[in-house]
Amino acid sequence: MASAARSASRAFLRSSPASSFRPAARSARFVPAQGFRTTARRGYSSETGGKSSSSSAGIWALALGVAGGAGAYFYLNGEKKPFVPGQADYQKVYDEIARKLADETDYDDGSYGPVLVRLAWHASGTYDKETNTGGSNGATMRFAPESGHGANAGLKTARDFLEPIKAQFPWITYSDLWTLAGSAAIQELGGPVVPWRPGREDKEIVACTPDGRLPDASQGHRHIRDVFGRMGFDDREMVALCGAHALGRAHTDRSGFDGPWDFSPTVFSNEFFRLLVEEKWNQRKWNGPAQFTDKTTSTLMMLPTDIALIKDKGFKSHVERYAKDSDAFFKEFSDVYVKLLELGVPFQSKPEDRFVFKASE
Ligand code: HEM
Repeated sequence: MASAARSASRAFLRSSPASSFRPAARSARFVPAQGFRTTARRGYSSETGGKSSSSSAGIWALALGVAGGAGAYFYLNGEKKPFVPGQADYQKVYDEIARKLADETDYDDGSYGPVLVRLAWHASGTYDKETNTGGSNGATMRFAPESGHGANAGLKTARDFLEPIKAQFPWITYSDLWTLAGSAAIQELGGPVVPWRPGREDKEIVACTPDGRLPDASQGHRHIRDVFGRMGFDDREMVALCGAHALGRAHTDRSGFDGPWDFSPTVFSNEFFRLLVEEKWNQRKWNGPAQFTDKTTSTLMMLPTDIALIKDKGFKSHVERYAKDSDAFFKEFSDVYVKLLELGVPFQSKPEDRFVFKASE
């Protein structure tokens, strides 16, 4: 499925007016996700069709009887037993997210995947290494102070998308669910495998982080280094993370910015970097915040922070490398997204205990 989606994407790109909009070869080193099957609504890459898998998780929930509520208990022969979910249980959660992504294509460019990737990033990107506060452990964006922070506008869509899955698997914490969904979305949109492990606990409202910890798109290279440096990332990692902008789009009613970064916003790729390097980016003339548009079609966009990645020498060398080497980007993005999703989480498990989820077929 994913390869069919990519073929469709390439066919579209080949027929696009910009001959430079040719996607780079995709990583062969990583297991491709099988589950991409979205319907394009704005002429972006996609395909139609695909199966609608039945819900094994529903059966599982029934079999468990009353597992849930406080989460970690079920009743067997009238006896209360602790329920300790294992990899197979988390795979069921993954499968339900993948099924819902495949079923619900009537949104944006045909997939909720990009906004799930963003939810996991904004839940995690509040981390401050000095105070060891923030990060994905806590899922404090459930509460009004944090959900109302300007940077989080629009993420209710992602949280609401996951709510039925939380109801179906009440034993999983929101913090684990949101990060698992980020990992699942990357895989289901044709990206690299993103190993993941459980262990996050939901915190109360007092753990909400102050506003201003997430990056401001109108800023430049210094701001990017300040914000991501606070989380503990180096230049290479900052650039790799920003490659997630191959996915999704900006919405005027959320951030004020407008448009997608490339022609295949529901396929994970290194297109963001290739276009940054190969296309000419002009300031867009419009009645909105300063952003850039491509000279060839005037349909794509870059944020000021995206452009900062090619203005700054330290960042640019990585942008150029990822533009040329899709395999390197896939590998390094996976590593750094795993790191992002684990910032500040006091795991009992070891990194080698991470699960590799099987993508949908
Ligand atoms: C300098 C750093 C960054 C800035 C300033 C930034 C800013 C933005 C803005 C303004 C939007 C548009 C939101 C909207 O209007 O809906 C956006 C979307 C998005 N961002 Fe970033 N971002 C940054 C880094 C990242 C990182 C590290 C990731 C993930 C690893 C990421 C993933 C995404 C995705 C997937 C979307 C599309 C969401 C959708 O389609 O709804 N971004 N970002």
